[in-house]
Amino acid sequence: MRIALFDSGIGGISVLTEAVRQLPKEDFLYLADTLHVPYGSKPKEQVKQHILEAMKLIVQEPVKAVVIACNTATSIAIEELRSSMDIPVIGMEPSVKPAVEMSRSSGKRVLVLATPLTLRENKYNELVHRVDDMSIVDSLPLPELVEYCEALNFDPDEIKTYLRDKLSAYSLEQYGTVVLGCTHYPFYKRILAELLPANTRLVDGSRGTVKRLKDILEQGSLLNEYGQGDVHFLCTSHDEAYIHKMKKAYQIFLAQIEEPSIPE
Ligand code: DGL
Repeated sequence: MRIALFDSGIGGISVLTEAVRQLPKEDFLYLADTLHVPYGSKPKEQVKQHILEAMKLIVQEPVKAVVIACNTATSIAIEELRSSMDIPVIGMEPSVKPAVEMSRSSGKRVLVLATPLTLRENKYNELVHRVDDMSIVDSLPLPELVEYCEALNFDPDEIKTYLRDKLSAYSLEQYGTVVLGCTHYPFYKRILAELLPANTRLVDGSRGTVKRLKDILEQGSLLNEYGQGDVHFLCTSHDEAYIHKMKKAYQIFLAQIEEPSIPE
């Protein structure tokens, strides 16, 4: 049986890549809700319905676990998803806790980048309230970055102009860690690293999420030994052109992580 990953669009491919890396003997199914992407700038109740609807496609497939490879979907629907499905459901949230811990010795601030919906939600605000005991966490929504990513726009000049403008209100030297709290944003990790002062760490939740997935599969004796890292792409609009786009995005992300590393 396959492991399913779900996102509004191609962002979750950043998590898929990590899943294939950590679990090379598994096969995967990736579902994008192309009918409704982007989620982050829509009202919560509407997005929740879209997620529950999309999940009906996943449960028709032979899958043994689902990763909600989307911070926005996790923040508004993870409880419902867990209670309505009888397989493990693994969610993601911005890596605020590890970022605050990293800052403990440096005294530097943490900047969390995520969608407007994630940042508005109780789940995120309670998380910050719980872990930000030094009041060092700032949050910045970047909804347009999801749209650039969906358009496979990785033009460094255009993206840098956008990000420079968004970051212009912040004195960047005071930040030690920037959290990529939306799965679309790791596609721009390299460009972001070029705009931030040297040694600023960029963290995202992919590694920890996949580690949790692996532990859960291990505990349930659900690990596969005969898979080949095969990925079956699906989208809610059943659109061949978008399936092609997802395959291209997967290749782009793979090529990006094979380049020399960025501070993490
Ligand atoms: N990739 C998603 C996330 O991690 C959502 C992006 C969107 O649809 O706005 O939050």
